[in-house]
Amino acid sequence: MKKINLGVLVSGSGSNLQAIIDNIESGKLNAIIRVVISNIPDVRALERAKDHNIPAVVIDRENFSTREEFDREAVSVLKSHSVDLVIMAGFMKILTPVFLRAFSGKIMNIHPALLPSFQGLHVQQKAFDYGVKFSGCTVHFADEGVDTGPIIIQAVVPVHGGDTADILQQRILKEEHKIYSQAIQFYAEGRLEIDGRKVHIKDSSIAKTPCIHNPPLEKF
Ligand code: GRF
Repeated sequence: MKKINLGVLVSGSGSNLQAIIDNIESGKLNAIIRVVISNIPDVRALERAKDHNIPAVVIDRENFSTREEFDREAVSVLKSHSVDLVIMAGFMKILTPVFLRAFSGKIMNIHPALLPSFQGLHVQQKAFDYGVKFSGCTVHFADEGVDTGPIIIQAVVPVHGGDTADILQQRILKEEHKIYSQAIQFYAEGRLEIDGRKVHIKDSSIAKTPCIHNPPLEKF
């Protein structure tokens, strides 16, 4: 099967990038990372790319007077690296229509909450403070909104007694690292079909996920 060419957009730690690299190198994920682009210089994600001999480019947002100019440069770099699928991984910028048009239906993002709940920033803390019994994470196609594109896969993450927001954030992050590679692999296998707001997984004998309860039911 042809490997899918990825361009990964980062802004910070790059733990999702690292998980994708690891899954590619272990042979689980049928992809090649052609380029990593950071909008911020000197972030850990750039070191991770360098450690794995992956071309890395800084497109410093400070050098561009408009978001559209930044996006035109990013699109140019991605196209010059023959990227098929753009992966936003801890990328902290909102894409303009310039970018979305250039890669329509070919941009994924990961959000550390169960969309559409808790859109925006610091969502692990917001969910924890709200007192949810489940939070989670979502991989979705990017659209012109913020965290609003068609959902591909979600992980449900329970909140346990004694948790802190940080403990919850780490539990969610572990699941992010799994579902992002799964979503990319579905795409690489040509099994994602966007139908309006819905994304269907083709040719899947996927088991039906059972309902889950937190706290666990005792007599019912
Ligand atoms: C992750 O929780 C991601 O969902 C959010 O930023 C956090 C750090 O991502 N967007 P990474 O470690 O830089 O991949």
